[in-house]
Amino acid sequence: MTETQTTYHTPVTDTLRNHVSVRSYSGESVPDGMLHEILNAARRSPTSSNIQAYTLIVVRNPDTKKQLAVLAGDQEHIETCDVFVAICADIYRLAHAVRVHGMELARNLETTLVSSIDAALVGMSMATAAESFGLGHVMIGGMRNHPREVGNLLGLPEGVYVVFGMCLGWPDEIPPQKPRLPEDLIIHYEQYDASDPTEKLKAHDSELAKHYRSLGRNLHDAAWTGVMTRKFGTPRRPHLREALEAMGFRFD
Ligand SMILES: Cc1cc2nc3c(=O)[nH]c(=O)nc-3n(C[C@H](O)[C@H](O)[C@H](O)COP(=O)(O)O)c2cc1C
Repeated sequence: MTETQTTYHTPVTDTLRNHVSVRSYSGESVPDGMLHEILNAARRSPTSSNIQAYTLIVVRNPDTKKQLAVLAGDQEHIETCDVFVAICADIYRLAHAVRVHGMELARNLETTLVSSIDAALVGMSMATAAESFGLGHVMIGGMRNHPREVGNLLGLPEGVYVVFGMCLGWPDEIPPQKPRLPEDLIIHYEQYDASDPTEKLKAHDSELAKHYRSLGRNLHDAAWTGVMTRKFGTPRRPHLREALEAMGFRFD
């Protein structure tokens, strides 16, 4: 069966399959009740040990959005979206919970990972809930460009950092879907298939380059491997560990 065949599908899988990041919004407001439903539906996401180690900060203030847009590397969609939500890993409450019992939170790599994973899960649920209402969104990892400045702007206490943000709004323009890597590179059965993926990656380069050309963007032919090499061939956000340690997270 190929990736596109759908014998079984539901409104939820249809929503997931139709996903595309939207960076252009109509300016129409997202009703408060709709946002409330998106955030509270997402709050039912599974959470490691029931820890609920995340906080969602809803930002509608234009000045705050503008400053966040600059900190994220001049990402205009943060300014032009109707609502921006900062999705935070949060071990601040956890530290208080442990203190109730006369102990100190044992911060380590696990508390950092668990809170970041929790934040990612709740963020993904928000994304699907938003798309099920017809809203557009794009996640913003650019929040980690300057984590401490973002933290100061949003008044984050020790033990909280923005893992990523999410722009939400009614789509002005929905771009065509970006091709994904081939299914057999991503889904393996029973055991990891470590056969050399290079040829399939090169084929994906061509498919993605064709996609970008169809949008009038003249990306070079190594559209995936080239971009990955540019982004990850040297350490990305090398300041992150030091910044997050200063914000109360540990990596040991
Ligand atoms: C955690 C995360 C962070 C992201 N950060 C950004 C970002 O800072 N700016 C942006 O324009 N897109 C960002 N994206 C969107 C990705 O670029 C996008 O999901 C990817 O290119 C695939 O495109 P698609 O979502 O339209 O299928 C982010 C996505 C994720 C999951």
